[in-house]
Amino acid sequence: MEVIILPDSDAAAGLVANVIADAVRAKPNLVLGLATGRTMERLYTRLVRLHTEDGVSFANVHTFNLDEYVGLPAEDKHSYRHYMNEHLFDQVDVDLANTHLPNGVADEIDTECADYERRISDCGGIDLQILGIGNTGHIGFNEPLSAMYSRTRAKALTPQTIAQNSPLFDNPEDMPRRAITMGVGTILDARRCILLATGEAKAGIIAEAVEGPVTSMISASAMQLHPKCTVIIDESAATKLKQHEYYRWLFENEPEWESYR
Ligand code: F6R
Repeated sequence: MEVIILPDSDAAAGLVANVIADAVRAKPNLVLGLATGRTMERLYTRLVRLHTEDGVSFANVHTFNLDEYVGLPAEDKHSYRHYMNEHLFDQVDVDLANTHLPNGVADEIDTECADYERRISDCGGIDLQILGIGNTGHIGFNEPLSAMYSRTRAKALTPQTIAQNSPLFDNPEDMPRRAITMGVGTILDARRCILLATGEAKAGIIAEAVEGPVTSMISASAMQLHPKCTVIIDESAATKLKQHEYYRWLFENEPEWESYR
């Protein structure tokens, strides 16, 4: 795992967008794993700009989102399918048929989850998975005690996650209590992962996930086991990290990041 600290949330989202753009240029049929949430809105704004101003094309890209609420159809404005269409898919040249999210209203949730895993492997696996982090340390909706080997399945959301996300619903009571999510094991199978987190509210959980022990109580700590995971954060999310001087030095000096400085 490596950590990159940038001055603010715009710079952090901009770096993630540039890494994605380079990955798509290098492999036009990239299989890209995506996340939703407030943090990702800045990232998608930057990706749309890279498409419209710099000609980055998503025409052959396949995408797989991490999660979807159980019980919300695609047309529901609170669904993650709706979020993705609005913030990214409708604004770039991706073929909607190549964009995948779990179906939150599938008759058989277990079958849908197994099918989602099959669709990922039929595409050759995820090349680059983008992750956010929730207040419980979840990645996707892998709430505490999610097994490190877990695969796509329905998961009950914690009270903290409900408190975090219910204000986004017109009526907070309407927020579903369960979601289909890729498992921690599914995420660990991605060839490369980038976790983006910004803002001081994330400082505590970032420190636990990055510098604390690997534990299923904080699913994001599993990323310490991943062979190629970069955590990209802003200064506000970095305030509780012990090794921040080292992380700053890495970005300034490591050859891999030279073209992004
Ligand atoms: C949602 C997802 C979640 C969010 C996390 C942070 O698809 O993957 O893990 O990334 O809950 O959400 P925000 O950015 O709203 O704080």
